[in-house]
Amino acid sequence: MSFKIVVTPRSFGAASPRPMELLQNKGYEIVRNSLGRPLKEMELIRLAGGADALLVGIDEVTDRVVDSLPNLKVISKYGVGVDNIALGAASRRGIPVTNTPGVNTGAVADLAIGLMLSVARQISAADHSTKNGEWKRFMGSSLYGKTVGILGTGKIGRAVAKRLRGFEVELLLYDEFKDSVFAGEVGGRYADLPEIYGKADFISLHLPLMPATGGLIGEKELRAMKPDAIVVNTARGGLVDEKALVRALREKWIRGAALDAFAAEPPRDEELLGLPNIVLTPHIGAYTEEAVLMMGMQSARNVIAVLEGKQPENVVNEIPKPS
Ligand SMILES: NC(=O)c1ccc[n+]([C@@H]2O[C@H](COP(=O)([O-])OP(=O)(O)OC[C@H]3O[C@@H](n4cnc5c(N)ncnc54)[C@H](O)[C@@H]3O)[C@@H](O)[C@H]2O)c1
Repeated sequence: MSFKIVVTPRSFGAASPRPMELLQNKGYEIVRNSLGRPLKEMELIRLAGGADALLVGIDEVTDRVVDSLPNLKVISKYGVGVDNIALGAASRRGIPVTNTPGVNTGAVADLAIGLMLSVARQISAADHSTKNGEWKRFMGSSLYGKTVGILGTGKIGRAVAKRLRGFEVELLLYDEFKDSVFAGEVGGRYADLPEIYGKADFISLHLPLMPATGGLIGEKELRAMKPDAIVVNTARGGLVDEKALVRALREKWIRGAALDAFAAEPPRDEELLGLPNIVLTPHIGAYTEEAVLMMGMQSARNVIAVLEGKQPENVVNEIPKPS
């Protein structure tokens, strides 16, 4: 019997045919997403009818999607954040949800540093202006020697902290789990959020999106930041109240911001898109040839493991033991 695998991420196999070959060599029926963007709930339900496995990116894998697929055996996330997947519905059906942690850590960390520098030195604006034939000087601010707050010292936050050592910054760390050994290694210290908002010149977000972290950076927090502060979000859009951020940037409560993730993607807010002191990227944190290949291989292996009755890597939901 051939299993039906629905593969939605556009970049799956884009850097190399190897992840797709892994699935094809098993003789599976593979159905791709032809819309060129993450799928909404109903689009996924239509595409996935009868699927045995979903290999997904940031598509809407809701309760209704899970409930509409009686043959579903595994949901393999191509990436880390599983906030778009109905974990409870999967658990109730005993369906493992897997992800690919770690393989995109370095790529996202690189981008976070790039965005800090891009905002601080106005690299995007300077590039645009020079290509338009202007010779305008753009006054920047330095990253070197500044105070940087890292919210979330999991894999990506740590990788950012390690890279920042070369910039000789003062590192203020925040996480519900405090790892003093790591803090010592990077020459940083854990602090509470009010202290970070009050002291940091750069604030980089690396927390997952969940009820406790949704809307973490709103008007109150933005007003508590230094006028020179730069906020960089390469985690999830829902962590930042975008309306409050627009006001903060327009009224110069803070110096600038960079977003790689948005509450709704792609972002449509004209005012957000038109602000001069923000750099926006289309959720490309993990989008390097190296990370895309590793995410593809790992997510394909997780599908195969479950369909062959083996234990997949990185199961993120609770699966009740059969009684
Ligand atoms: N831009 C992109 O393309 C991209 C790519 C990969 C990951 N991400 C995002 O980056 C996030 C971080 O990824 P990671 O691999 O470092 O994850 P991780 O699980 O290794 O780290 C998350 C950290 O957040 C901490 N945390 C969780 N809830 C908290 C809370 N309520 N208060 C304080 N700390 C809390 C955890 O203790 C952990 O240390 C992901 O969840 C994902 O949303 C974005």
